[in-house]
Amino acid sequence: MTQYLIAIDQGTTSSRAILFHENGQIECTAQQEFEQIYPENAWVEHDPTAILSSVLSVLQQVVSYAQQNNLSVAGIGITNQRETTIVWDKTTGKPVYNAIVWQDRRTSDYCQQLKKQGLEQQVSSKTGLLIDPYFSATKIRWILDNVAGAKLRAQQGELAFGTVDTFLLWHLTGGREFKTDASNASRTMLFNIHQQAWDADLLSLFDIPVSMLPQVCDCAAHFGHTDRQQIGDSIAILAMAGDQQAAMIGQACLQPGAVKTTYGTGAFLMLNTGNQAVQSQHKLLTTVAYRLNGKVTYALEGSIFVAGAAIQWLRDKLQIIDSAEQTSQLAQSLPLDHGVYTVPAFTGLGAPYWDPDVRGMICGLTRDSGNAALVSSALQSVAFQTLDLLNAMQADKANVQILKVDGGMTANTWLLQFIADICQCRVMRPVILETTALGVALLAGLQAGVYANLEQISQQCLMDVDFSPAMDPQLRASLISRWQLAVQLASQFK
Ligand code: G3P
Repeated sequence: MTQYLIAIDQGTTSSRAILFHENGQIECTAQQEFEQIYPENAWVEHDPTAILSSVLSVLQQVVSYAQQNNLSVAGIGITNQRETTIVWDKTTGKPVYNAIVWQDRRTSDYCQQLKKQGLEQQVSSKTGLLIDPYFSATKIRWILDNVAGAKLRAQQGELAFGTVDTFLLWHLTGGREFKTDASNASRTMLFNIHQQAWDADLLSLFDIPVSMLPQVCDCAAHFGHTDRQQIGDSIAILAMAGDQQAAMIGQACLQPGAVKTTYGTGAFLMLNTGNQAVQSQHKLLTTVAYRLNGKVTYALEGSIFVAGAAIQWLRDKLQIIDSAEQTSQLAQSLPLDHGVYTVPAFTGLGAPYWDPDVRGMICGLTRDSGNAALVSSALQSVAFQTLDLLNAMQADKANVQILKVDGGMTANTWLLQFIADICQCRVMRPVILETTALGVALLAGLQAGVYANLEQISQQCLMDVDFSPAMDPQLRASLISRWQLAVQLASQFK
């Protein structure tokens, strides 16, 4: 009998549930956006109950589709925006504060202090991460320090911490399961990626009681069953993975050397390094790509904080476009060297700069510059930032020839050609653009026995279009040097 798999993809701006046929084709999709909350400059929050209700709503829709069509669902996989931090009451399940989103920079001063104390080397050697507000640890600390009574309640074992996967699992299972997976754990700055365990030194450094932390499982495991009353069926939850790691699976980046970039709200480039936890010398992160049967596959990651978010900003704040679909045509209406550069450092700069205090900048404007230049320069910034990451990888001795890309922005073929030109590598896009959801659905299928092994999984991931570099070298060099100058200028303007 044909098996189907459900992926819950809880992203930064929307929640989706997708029902996949076992051959990897999409059968049914439901999506719901939720509010972004900006209480102060550089703070970003979500209401966890809004996240949960959006997930319940989309999940109910695909479950009832499966029921109406008599489709057999083998299991659910959960993939999620990573690092985003939720603390809740273990008895009531109620969050004590809003989710502090990965983009939030409120702990920037605290991170500076930690760096000044010379702690970066210790943190990095254990977690593979750099000290930055991006990761969960300083966000948890902020909640415990700033929510009345939270510190004491945490010490008394009354509070739970989770990234979004754990919060969803807890609620989808009626409060019965308190678990995460190794890929999400590796983004908290509390998890020792070599020992695959919460790190006692780091817990004491951030003063976080171990009772707050979930059990860390493989990415494919028996996580629990959905509560029938909530979604109308009791379905096994068989996989969890951070969204970027899930996209690696969905892109079949399963061999050392394989690279993918997902262009969503941010953009995240990951290189599979096999069973080696390679320590970058150029400010990339070492992270868990996936853990299966206790065996860890590591990745080097470059994280760009603003990619699609720059286009959202043009649409929602500046209101110069109605939809992302317009951007391709507007960009094509100008020559590539129009002279306008956008450094979209709305929430600081991630890899390889790691400067939480830089802010966005647009430079090179003339009386002639209009919407097309703003759109083109925002799109171009995505390619330039990708190049910055590839340069860092190259300096770390990783030679990238093929970049597999996915995510909403990759519908824009003008952008894909520009990325190929600027990065001087082949850019390949898969048939199924929902690689994040596909990846976690495949992991759930692996656990359910729908697929025998990773080789069978990779057969479900097929490539569609392929772009090769074709730009005049002089033009390329001059565009890149102007971008580098723009980043330098932005870095001085704090
Ligand atoms: O690390 C943050 C990342 O997981 C967010 O992904 O797709 O919601 O932009 P996305």
